[in-house]
Amino acid sequence: MRKKVTVVGAGAVGSTSAHWLASKELADIVLVDVVQGLPQGVALDLASAAPVEDFDLKIVGTNNYEDTADSDVILITAGVPRRKDPVTGKFPSRDELVKINQDVVGPITEQLVKHSPNSIIIVVTNPLDAMCHVVKHISGFPRERVIGQAGALDTARYKTFIAMELGVSVEDVHAIVLGGHGDEMVPLPRHTSVSGIPIRELMPEDKLQAIIERTRKGGGEIVGLMGRSAYYAPASASVAMIESILKDKKRVIASAVYLQGEYGYNDLFIGVPCVLGSTGLEKVIVMDLNDEEKAMLDVSARAVRSVVDVLGYAKPA
Ligand code: APR
Repeated sequence: MRKKVTVVGAGAVGSTSAHWLASKELADIVLVDVVQGLPQGVALDLASAAPVEDFDLKIVGTNNYEDTADSDVILITAGVPRRKDPVTGKFPSRDELVKINQDVVGPITEQLVKHSPNSIIIVVTNPLDAMCHVVKHISGFPRERVIGQAGALDTARYKTFIAMELGVSVEDVHAIVLGGHGDEMVPLPRHTSVSGIPIRELMPEDKLQAIIERTRKGGGEIVGLMGRSAYYAPASASVAMIESILKDKKRVIASAVYLQGEYGYNDLFIGVPCVLGSTGLEKVIVMDLNDEEKAMLDVSARAVRSVVDVLGYAKPA
C-alpha cells in the first residue's frame, strides 16, 4: 500500500515540504490548514505540476482532519512564524511565540492523533523544542514517534557556510549540530570535516568561530533579510527526515528527541544524533563529548528548559 504523509499548515514551510515530498514521490500527501481554500489551492497547483515533473501520487488539500486518517507520517508546520508585526514593526522572539503556538499545536495534535493513532509526528513549528513537548504531552505517543526537526536544518546551514567559505562542494562537508533550536545550539568543530580532513586544518579558528556564530543566528539572518522566517531549508530538512523514515534508511540525523537519561538530561527534547527508520526514532547515538562541548550543551539545554517551562506542564514524576 502507498504511504500517506499529512502536512499540517499549507503556508511556506508546509507547501514547500509538500513540493519536495511530491518531487521525490515519497507518499500520497494530505495538506491541511485552518484557512479555507488555501490547502485546496496549494494541492491543486502542486498536483497540476505532476504531468510536467512526472510524479504520480495523490495530493489532497483539506480543512477536515478526517481526510488525514491513517497517515504514516505527519509533519506539523502550522503556527505563527517569526514575522514583523505590521503595527509595532517588531519581531516576536522565539520565546514569545511559545504560548501562541502552544494553542495552535495542542488542538491540532488532538485531531491528528484521533485519526492517525499509529503515526510518526515530525514537528517543525517554533519554538521547536517546546512544541515537541506539546505534541508529546497531548498525543501521549511514545518518544519514538514524536521527533523535532531542528538539527537537520542547523547542520545544513553550518555545512553550507563552511562550503561557501572554503569554496568546496557541500557534498564533501561532514558535520553535526546538537542542542536546542536556538541561539545556544552547539555546532561541533571537532566532528566537522571536509572529506575526512578536520576543519581546523582547513580554516583558521577566527573564521570557524564566525561560521559557528552565523549558524547559530542562521534563522534570524534570513528573517532580517526577508522580514519572515525561512522555508526552503526547513522544508528540505523535514523531507530528509520523512524520507529516512518512509524508506527505513536509518540515516543518522540530528533531531530533537525526548531524552531519558542520555547525555545526562531527562524529560527534555533536545537535538542529538538519531537513527531514523520505519519506526521513527530507532536509536539515540550518545557521543563522547569533551568538557567544553558538554558545557555548551548544558547551556543549550538550560535555554530549552526555560522555554519549555513556559508551557506550564507538570514535570513527569
Ligand atoms: N490549524 C491549521 N493550520 C494553521 C493553524 C491551525 N490552528 N494556525 C495556523 N495555521 C496555518 C496558517 O494558516 C498558515 O498557512 O499554518 C500556516 C503557517 O504558514 P506560514 O505562516 O507561511 O509559516 P511558515 O513559514 O510555513 O512557518 C511555519 O515553521 O519554521 C517554522 O518558525 C516557523 O513556526 C513556524 C512554522
